[in-house]
Amino acid sequence: MKRRFAPIVDWIAHEGGVDPWAIHWEARQAKDKGEDVIILSVGDPPIDTPVPVVDRAVAALRGGDTHYTEILGKTPLRERIAAVHVARTGMSCSADNVAVLAGTQNGLFVASLCLASHGDEIITIDPMYTTYPASIQASGAKLVRVPAHASAGFHPDLKALEAAVTSRTRAIFLATPSNPSGVVLSEKDCDGIADIARRHGLWIVSDEVYAGIADGNRVPSLAARLPNQVVTVGSLSKSHAMTGWRVGWLIGPPDLVKLVEELALCMLYGIPGFIQEAAIAALDLREDTERSMHEYCRVRRDVLYRALADIPTVTPHWPDAGMFMLLDVRKTGLGSAGFLRGLFESEKVSLLDGAAFGRETDGFVRACFAAEPAELEEAGRRIRRYAASLGG
Ligand SMILES: Cc1ncc(COP(=O)(O)O)c(C=O)c1O
Repeated sequence: MKRRFAPIVDWIAHEGGVDPWAIHWEARQAKDKGEDVIILSVGDPPIDTPVPVVDRAVAALRGGDTHYTEILGKTPLRERIAAVHVARTGMSCSADNVAVLAGTQNGLFVASLCLASHGDEIITIDPMYTTYPASIQASGAKLVRVPAHASAGFHPDLKALEAAVTSRTRAIFLATPSNPSGVVLSEKDCDGIADIARRHGLWIVSDEVYAGIADGNRVPSLAARLPNQVVTVGSLSKSHAMTGWRVGWLIGPPDLVKLVEELALCMLYGIPGFIQEAAIAALDLREDTERSMHEYCRVRRDVLYRALADIPTVTPHWPDAGMFMLLDVRKTGLGSAGFLRGLFESEKVSLLDGAAFGRETDGFVRACFAAEPAELEEAGRRIRRYAASLGG
């Protein structure tokens, strides 16, 4: 029998069949074997979830919170998420605007499926987070890239954005702060993007997973400009060191949230109750936790930037926020893939290939600075030594 798979299999495959995480997994294995490896390839801070959050989950489990829950999430959690949105955007928002989902990633996927389908187009900003092509194409829609050039500090090219809109365009997906560039969209960027979306009747999906750890614990808001057309997705993963808990949200107009409920019913059936209790505890600690995570990242960004200063062929790009820094390695004469492989083999430092984030970051590599300062300094020394060994 000839076995067949659905077309979605191709839509979600890595471009060119290349796994951008290959070196990362090799590095993990080498580290497990005791090798002196520095892994800066993934954005998962090596710090523990706050104790009261863990305690709340344990108490909820022991208290029997192990049954089905509301599909869109418990009302007290949805209310707290709405309150975060009010604090960050200044716009009104209630539990009716909120769906609790399994992380920002789940929110992106749900938004894609609810907003577009075959024959439609979704615009994204290149560079973009590595899951965007698959998340967007899973809906059947075509992905259209609009550049954010390195020469413009990776801010999106609004003229190109406007030019990319066609009668088939349904939505613009973007992240602020961006992963990989760390760019926070400026008020002017947001004005321009909201204006294009308003005139062409487009949705905007604003991925704000790093917003809580940006300066002031918020970013200029697209939702505040266009509440009926903006879907905001986020989570506790980065702000509260809760990547493994898989809890996040989608915030949008209530009619969209009703559709999300239908989709969540057949896809997810709700987030575990004890995880939601933990999320409530996390949001009750939000201001202090976000402030300390912001400081944690700020200190480490400065350490890595200093450690990489004045390398003739490797230029770090200053990120506004988040936990990543792009390094321009074009002057080394190697492609980013060659640089990464060589760096890992000779110095045992694992970074991620910028090409995995789009065409604009081909020739760049991405370092995560959510690591111990001494480790970042040592990574800087190793990168410097490797770059020097290449000459040029
Ligand atoms: C831009 C961006 N969006 C979404 C995600 C996924 O986040 P979550 O853990 O909330 O699903 C990440 C994770 O690194 C990310 O960098």
